[in-house]
Amino acid sequence: MRIDIITVMPEMLEPFLKESILGRAREKGIADIYVHNLRDFTEDKWRRVDDYPFGGFAGMVLQCQPIDNAISSLKAERHYDEVIYVTPDGEQFSQPMANTLSLAENIIILCGHYKGIDQRIRDHFITREVTIGDYVLTGGELAAAVMTDAIVRLLPGAIGDDASALNDCFQDRLLAAPIYTRPAEYKGWRVPDVLLSGNEAKIREWELNESLRRTQELRPDLLTD
Ligand code: ADE
Repeated sequence: MRIDIITVMPEMLEPFLKESILGRAREKGIADIYVHNLRDFTEDKWRRVDDYPFGGFAGMVLQCQPIDNAISSLKAERHYDEVIYVTPDGEQFSQPMANTLSLAENIIILCGHYKGIDQRIRDHFITREVTIGDYVLTGGELAAAVMTDAIVRLLPGAIGDDASALNDCFQDRLLAAPIYTRPAEYKGWRVPDVLLSGNEAKIREWELNESLRRTQELRPDLLTD
């Protein structure tokens, strides 16, 4: 899978994308992730990519020309399944959306900044608008990082044990059961006996009950929506 991220703050994303599972997935060729500096696409001699909004509104707006050039040059090279704009007024990002996007061949993620981007780019290029939550960030970079992380870890081979991505919280609209490791007793705090019993069926039953209990307690909306 290939992900192209367009941003005015490439230096914010690169360190994150080099680390841990994401970094290894890139090294192993499981995910090709490219970060493009929007300023490299401007035709302005001062390398400006933004301007004042028409109508006298406050703030600055990313202009059509550099975004058009950036997206068009990528689209000239290959087909993209989605051109995503990360924005607080988009559709809520979720595990099902991450699952769907992880099946794509190529996606573009465009990060907004300042007041956002010229509406004409949204009208003519963007296929999907996505928010990571009901709060406003200074730019779309953190949202792009969150989405990339959630998508790439689902790709086959990205995490050590492939099956474990399927057991994640939210994969079946349930929170995960509590998890324990050695020692079986620490400061008198004991691991539930069933986990030490070796009885696979009983352990699965316990896991499901614990998942249901935690979901009911912490996120009852997941059981009713
Ligand atoms: N850009 C600014 N805030 C955002 C958010 N909550 N989600 C996605 N992109 C954003």
